[in-house]
Amino acid sequence: MFKIISKKSLSSNIKRYEIEAGDIAKNAKAGQFVILRLHEKGERIPLTIAGKDTIKGTINIIFQEAGKTTTELGMLNEGDSIRDIVGPLGHPTEIEKFGTVVAVAGGVGTAEVLPVIKDLLKAGNKVITIVGSRNKDLLILEDELKENSSRLLIATDDGSYGIKGFVTTVLSDVVSKEKVDIVYAIGPVPMMKAVANMTKPLNIKTLVSLNPIMVDGTGMCGACRVSVGDKIKFACVDGPEFNAHQVNWDELISRLSLFKKFESASFENFKHNPECKCHKE
Ligand SMILES: Cc1cc2nc3c(=O)[nH]c(=O)nc-3n(C[C@H](O)[C@H](O)[C@H](O)COP(=O)(O)OP(=O)(O)OC[C@H]3O[C@@H](n4cnc5c(N)ncnc54)[C@H](O)[C@@H]3O)c2cc1C
Ligand code: FES
Repeated sequence: MFKIISKKSLSSNIKRYEIEAGDIAKNAKAGQFVILRLHEKGERIPLTIAGKDTIKGTINIIFQEAGKTTTELGMLNEGDSIRDIVGPLGHPTEIEKFGTVVAVAGGVGTAEVLPVIKDLLKAGNKVITIVGSRNKDLLILEDELKENSSRLLIATDDGSYGIKGFVTTVLSDVVSKEKVDIVYAIGPVPMMKAVANMTKPLNIKTLVSLNPIMVDGTGMCGACRVSVGDKIKFACVDGPEFNAHQVNWDELISRLSLFKKFESASFENFKHNPECKCHKE
């Protein structure tokens, strides 16, 4: 059992938990994730390790209530426990001194980008962070991003804060004004695909953190299969970061929607009777 030490709402549907998980905290590196299960009957879902405190023996997760399991997770409180947490999983981000790095984040991807920019800044890079959200209310972690970036640029779709437009509008402006050595993009798949399409003709190395459906997280079940270049990869063990210019985006988009019907049915069922024991035993 893994105890929730603190709970904080970052926006209407995004929450941060600090969880007691000493062994995971000791070994976790930027870019890695955990797979958790809330109870015996719960599904397994992957979430990025958004921070850690090795002295307290805790990790942070930041999640968006997207469907049944993340909504059920959001209903827990300080002092409650999560049944299983496995990790750290996946390859850590390769941190080195590249020069000028642009980190592009959208939505809850902002939480995933935070540990990466922290380490890239510490390694001596100039880190320009571009973060996008639909509106000001959905923007999260502004202070932490500012603290860990050489420059923070904010874009909102409706212009309610920062620059009006998408993160790609801002990225296009940045790459037209300075030499960029590498781009990281973490967020919704259409955003990562758009960034890849922009940087490919400019020949700027671009890494993305892919979010296919995962089940076991050990390379055994095949759920997280992605095509990268002419190779089949399993994001849980070969990734989750890959060369954005080689990802087969259309296949990823189509595989992400494979279980939509079942996910919606399960969420509806849960919403009608969240206390039902059939969800838990
Ligand atoms: C490596 C990795 C790291 C991630 N990190 C974060 C994070 O830090 N914060 C965050 O909010 N989200 C993160 N996600 C996405 C998160 O796992 C899904 O939002 C979650 O599984 C949705 O489950 P649900 O039951 O609430 O919603 P559902 O209604 O079941 O699904 C909503 C959508 O989430 C995706 N999804 C569903 N089940 C899974 C699954 N088992 N594995 C992966 N995706 C799934 C599908 O695209 C689906 O359409 C990450 C995904 C991956 C692969
Ligand atoms: S999650 Fe099963 S192979 Fe990656």
